[in-house]
Amino acid sequence: MIKFKLNGKEVETSAPPTLRLIDLLRDEFDLIGTKEGCGDGECGACSVMVNNLVQNSCLIPIGAIECADILTIDGYSKTELFKILSDCYSEAGAVQCGFCIPGMVMASAALLSENPNPTEEEIREGISGNLCRCTGYNMIVDAISLAAKKGDGIW
Ligand code: FES
Ligand code: FES
Repeated sequence: MIKFKLNGKEVETSAPPTLRLIDLLRDEFDLIGTKEGCGDGECGACSVMVNNLVQNSCLIPIGAIECADILTIDGYSKTELFKILSDCYSEAGAVQCGFCIPGMVMASAALLSENPNPTEEEIREGISGNLCRCTGYNMIVDAISLAAKKGDGIW
């Protein structure tokens, strides 16, 4: 049995340790906000926080998450910080097909918690592990920049 914390709750699973975290999240816990793009660690669509660090859940075997603290977009979306980011993504017109957005939001959250007032260059660097196939990067950068201003002091 593998035990860990998921979106603030203690949970356990009897799934095999080689199972990918993304499959566990989506198939066993029904957390389908986390998306699979490349399945190969390249696109960031599957980003989640593991012990406060952004990681690609398609690359993590669940045997490696014993006792870890996992936060997915489904858990993060219930927070006040998410509301600010979500409003700013909408205001900046940063959501096109939306497939990359859950991962982008997790990367944005991690960036802003580490660096609440990032420069444009730092924002681009912060989301460099996340691909947007709709190439909406400029709007996404604007959204994060706006969120930094609106959430001043609370990131
Ligand atoms: S699906 Fe995990 S990095 Fe692309
Ligand atoms: S909005 Fe479509 S992939 Fe980014």
